[in-house]
Amino acid sequence: MSTPIPATLIPGDGIGPEIMDATLAALDALGSPFEWDRQIAGLGGVQAHGDPLPKATLDSIRRTRLALKGPLETPSGGGYRSSNVRLREEFQLYANVRPARTIIPGGRFDDIDLLVVRENLEGLYIGHEHYVPIDGDPHAVAMATGVNTRQGSRRILEYAFELAIAQGRKKVSIVHKANIMKALTGIFLETGQQLYQEKYKGRFELDTVIIDACAMKLVLNPWQFDVLVTTNLFGDILSDLVAGLVGGLGMAPGANIGADAAIFEAVHGSAPDIAGKGIANPTALLLAAAMMLDHCKLPDLAARLRKAIDDTLNVDQVRTGDLRGTASTAAYTQALVSRIRNG
Ligand code: NAI
Repeated sequence: MSTPIPATLIPGDGIGPEIMDATLAALDALGSPFEWDRQIAGLGGVQAHGDPLPKATLDSIRRTRLALKGPLETPSGGGYRSSNVRLREEFQLYANVRPARTIIPGGRFDDIDLLVVRENLEGLYIGHEHYVPIDGDPHAVAMATGVNTRQGSRRILEYAFELAIAQGRKKVSIVHKANIMKALTGIFLETGQQLYQEKYKGRFELDTVIIDACAMKLVLNPWQFDVLVTTNLFGDILSDLVAGLVGGLGMAPGANIGADAAIFEAVHGSAPDIAGKGIANPTALLLAAAMMLDHCKLPDLAARLRKAIDDTLNVDQVRTGDLRGTASTAAYTQALVSRIRNG
């Protein structure tokens, strides 16, 4: 038995606890080495401690530098700031890596294998927003400031380029809107092109594409892309788009990676519309756990988990409702655990 790896576990809000239970059952069956420190955040944190990101949770991640996290609820419009965004800032998790791979064949798009690498700390997500009151209307004008830096752009572009090489990818597309936001996204495009010329020329093909055209091309012919690297807001939107190409949010994992910490999660949110009904698809969080195993240099365990997911969905045909199946979360988990034990 290898030495246990300390890791923080945040079940999260809404369907979080249901999909986390499923993921822990699968990891237990695999004999995974994580030694969990269970913490709360999001709405759960507000209810228990009046804070969506309690100190104990931050202290735990400071110690473990590794976390598996369920979705955290964030109110729209007013209310507290997103705990996800705060976690990314606190631990400088600058790279958001979101793979989209076809697992169930026969959908609208077959054989998809895309990787979206999103800048996670800059752009329009820095939270510099305010209203200007005019004539008694407190919300007469809304303003937001976006900030992209040369250093921040270079760091994420370098990460994406290195990942492309490590995974044997053929092409990287820099997605931007430098025709309109000439400074804000121009700096990202320019930095990427310079970096490619300096260090990466010939190691893969570099392509540049404007965000709106990219969205259309992804729907018309997604196979023309391989790795997409982009700024924060565009990356957020594109990663949901590519999740849709492979069966929806229930199938899309994500990793938030920094220089010395990493948090793994599903791309989707807390799905309040189906929370507590026992019907959520835990696959996205399970695939995030597989990414976490890879990150901890346990590729054999990651591959066993992915194979068991594949067999449960395709051989046993046990699927949750979002994949037009009839299985409950518990039934899917049970089938997956038997696959892991007998696989
Ligand atoms: P959502 O991703 O929670 O749900 C969108 C739709 O997809 C819903 O119809 C939902 O039922 C369905 N869905 C999502 N995950 C599913 C799963 N595993 N199985 C089956 N169906 C699934 O997005 P929404 O409703 O916009 O956000 C709800 C809350 O989640 C908000 O408070 C939002 O801020 C938060 N959120 C948190 C994220 C995170 O913690 N990383 C990411 C995105 C949203």
